[in-house]
Amino acid sequence: MEKLKVGVIGCGSIAKHRHLPEYEMNANVEIVAVCDIVPERAEQMAEKYNAKAFTEYEELLKLEEIDAVSVCLPNYLHAPVSIAALNAGKHVLCEKPMATSREEAQAMIDAAKANDKKLMIAHNQRFVESHKLAKEIIDSGKLGKIYSFKTTFGHPGPEGWSVDGRDSWFFEKEKAFIGALGDLGVHKADLIRYLLGEFTEVAAFVETNAKENTDVDDNAVVILRSNQGVIGQLSASWAYVTGDDNSTIIYGEKGILKLEADPKYALIEQYTNGEVKNHELGKIQTNEEGGQTTTHVIDHFVESILENKEPLITGEEGKKSLEIILAALESQEKKAVVRLQ
Ligand SMILES: NC(=O)c1ccc[n+]([C@@H]2O[C@H](COP(=O)([O-])OP(=O)(O)OC[C@H]3O[C@@H](n4cnc5c(N)ncnc54)[C@H](O)[C@@H]3O)[C@@H](O)[C@H]2O)c1
Repeated sequence: MEKLKVGVIGCGSIAKHRHLPEYEMNANVEIVAVCDIVPERAEQMAEKYNAKAFTEYEELLKLEEIDAVSVCLPNYLHAPVSIAALNAGKHVLCEKPMATSREEAQAMIDAAKANDKKLMIAHNQRFVESHKLAKEIIDSGKLGKIYSFKTTFGHPGPEGWSVDGRDSWFFEKEKAFIGALGDLGVHKADLIRYLLGEFTEVAAFVETNAKENTDVDDNAVVILRSNQGVIGQLSASWAYVTGDDNSTIIYGEKGILKLEADPKYALIEQYTNGEVKNHELGKIQTNEEGGQTTTHVIDHFVESILENKEPLITGEEGKKSLEIILAALESQEKKAVVRLQ
């Protein structure tokens, strides 16, 4: 079989630690080109992966041989670059949050349809072992009716992650459009929709109370309610100063699931009949680990193209997860509960 030829746009941390090494590990892929506005970054990755280096994404997109691209850029560039790539006939794997508005997200979806190309959003939380098993358990009905949940994603902040450290675009509203809520909260919005279905009411407090010299949020607490009356809270933070909290707890009629809440057991099942099941599963990927493990995002994207299947996280799915955080921002602004369609 001929290999899928890919380009990676943006050679910062997520490209370096996840996209490039995971494409490299996939036997069906050839990395053809990389792009970064900082020439040394593109050149360094081009050398490492034996690819062509570009500083302008438009030039990379002109390469006809490229079948698919990863968009690993600051948030404000996700929509314009993804749309340009789709219009150039490339499949697109775009980082999260998918876009900065509903309109942009819809334009990306429309461009994928018009060009008959795949669009996938890199919500890697759906591929985490404990999350997948929790979904199976919930769908099996073993927990009975679901009442409530808590889902949290926090760490000390992107200054320890972004290639530009404290000077990163992550802290600039113009480029990031949103802070911890969009960086981490959107992951949990996507996870909780995946596990429990759609939510229709959103209320939130979104603050900048930890970092200085930034105009984006660093602590957010969001309350969600579904039409069936499932209620729960989603927290996102760049100020959990001693390390990651990536935990989720699901409260049901017959038991409770604890996901990524225990250092040893990635999933704990506790039932009202006294049954307890502790699962030691593959560890969730954290920023500290670098690229030693796979997120499965790249393999899934490649497979969806080669087998012509819809990816698990389509543009529509990315848009629904984005809408939750957009509603949280609106709730903060209006001091009101926001209803989603
Ligand atoms: N899925 C995840 O778990 C996860 C984790 C971290 C980051 N991300 C997302 O990945 C995206 C990139 O984040 P990052 O952590 O790699 O950021 P980063 O700051 O480390 O890297 C961004 C790179 O983009 C380059 N760049 C900026 N403008 C450019 C342009 N016009 N053309 C070409 N290159 C340009 C910068 O020079 C930099 O090298 C963000 O959307 C972020 O939210 C996702």
